[in-house]
Amino acid sequence: MKVLGINALFHDPAAALVVDGETVAAAEEERFSRRKHGHRPVPFAAWELPEMAARWCLAEAGLDVGDLDAVAYSYDPALARPAEELGLDDPWDHLRQDYARRAPGFLASSLPGLDPASVRFVPHHLAHAASAGLASPYLDDADVLVLDGRGESASHLAGHYDRGQVEVFRTQELPHSLGLLYEDVTQHLGFLRSSDEYKVMALASYGRPRFLEELRRSVCATGDGGFRTDPVDWSSLVKPRLPDEEWTSDHADLAASVQHLLEEVLLELAAWLHERSGAPALTLAGGVALNCVANTRLLADSPYDRVWVQPAAGDAGTALGGALHVARAEGEATAPMPGADLGRGWNDAELEAWLTTARLPYDRPADVADEVAACLAANGVVAWFQGRSEYGPRALGHRSLLAHPGHPANLERLNDVKGREQFRPVAPMVREERAAEIFGRGPLPSPYMLFVHDVAPQWRDRIPAVVHVDGTARVQTVAAGDEPLVARVLERFEARTGLPVVVNTSLNTAGRPMVDDPRDALECFGSAPVDLLAIGPFVVRRPGSPR
Ligand SMILES: [Fe+2]
Repeated sequence: MKVLGINALFHDPAAALVVDGETVAAAEEERFSRRKHGHRPVPFAAWELPEMAARWCLAEAGLDVGDLDAVAYSYDPALARPAEELGLDDPWDHLRQDYARRAPGFLASSLPGLDPASVRFVPHHLAHAASAGLASPYLDDADVLVLDGRGESASHLAGHYDRGQVEVFRTQELPHSLGLLYEDVTQHLGFLRSSDEYKVMALASYGRPRFLEELRRSVCATGDGGFRTDPVDWSSLVKPRLPDEEWTSDHADLAASVQHLLEEVLLELAAWLHERSGAPALTLAGGVALNCVANTRLLADSPYDRVWVQPAAGDAGTALGGALHVARAEGEATAPMPGADLGRGWNDAELEAWLTTARLPYDRPADVADEVAACLAANGVVAWFQGRSEYGPRALGHRSLLAHPGHPANLERLNDVKGREQFRPVAPMVREERAAEIFGRGPLPSPYMLFVHDVAPQWRDRIPAVVHVDGTARVQTVAAGDEPLVARVLERFEARTGLPVVVNTSLNTAGRPMVDDPRDALECFGSAPVDLLAIGPFVVRRPGSPR
């Protein structure tokens, strides 16, 4: 059975393709359109469909639109209620319902040959839930928590997967929403809501949770698997910050308070779910599940032995989850997702053609990994473009910027390359077998960079560029079996420097989506102070770069 999944309505339009229960392809529209997040998450943009991502998914599998058995659309307008009734201040929300109802027709127009009758509306949070429970290795016996801004009329779901079949125990109706609460504080702190929530999480580690008591009066778990988020008068706590204003300790304290409160509520939701079901593994999805600090807290302090988070935990992941859900509903067995590298890739000949067309001088070294390690050891910054691009917001060694972790100035240097705030950390990658020596508390292995780990005190001075102000780091562990080339870079870098860690951050420049195709890579290399581009087996050097 061939199922195309479509996410379009709120955030991060994306498409995914599941064939005979296997995840074949998944990609976000922003990687094609080069518009970050695809479109703004406003009702009047909700008609836009991930057309390019959908066409590419089909082409990748060699399918025509007419070959599809079903199209899963990750929102069900029949479950929606008017925004006023839900207590939301969103006067144009009815457009979303209208566009969703018309989606089968829109899809048939944008993908000629598609049968509108093949479109199934999948409830938004069942699509998120499937992206966690069914995509995880624990699909036979896993609990699932969806922690979202909003779906049709709820913001959360707690349930269980038993041999691939979901049972829903609890949902939390709007307007109560942990995602919307976090979006509110994001906006109050002068960042872009529905986009910059991770900046609040980063800022939180600079503050003290001194507003916690006040906030607990409005926000708390209710003891029955749900929670309450009454309106908060943010200005009575801290003056709003303008987008280009310097942040102060007050702003950091507010961020720390909300972060702490979120963790408290999540722990109670997890405890309730575990009590109810007793499954050993918890799987997570929804935008709030991209909060790596909260994820680590859940692993450390909840009753679960294992916590697995969908790497595309935001709405992009509902394209895959929707498709898996429909496949299961049709009685098909489905397999866990094979990895996050589900996007576009190019073979060596295609990559060489791009370099030839650009008339760039390039080499094909005998060992590209060692060439990159040498440049990194000499403190060069490397743009690393290998294999298929990642699904979700994290660069996991396919579209990455790499640097030496031993020089503290490399944090500022990379944040300058990427044009972002200096309080934003960059992350370490480490070979799986070396991780436990350096990183504690978070789960190991951690291949998707969705948790934070404590850096062992004796290592903090050795890898200062990747240690956050609170002594933590957001680690990606690399298994040689899954990622042989990245593992070899790490091995060769260690041979040269004695450090088993390399800095890894996403390959993009200010405000742009991650690099996806070779043209993006060449444009990024051409415009950013990067010393070496490693693209497939080829390297392009900036004149005078270290080697
Ligand atoms: Fe969502």
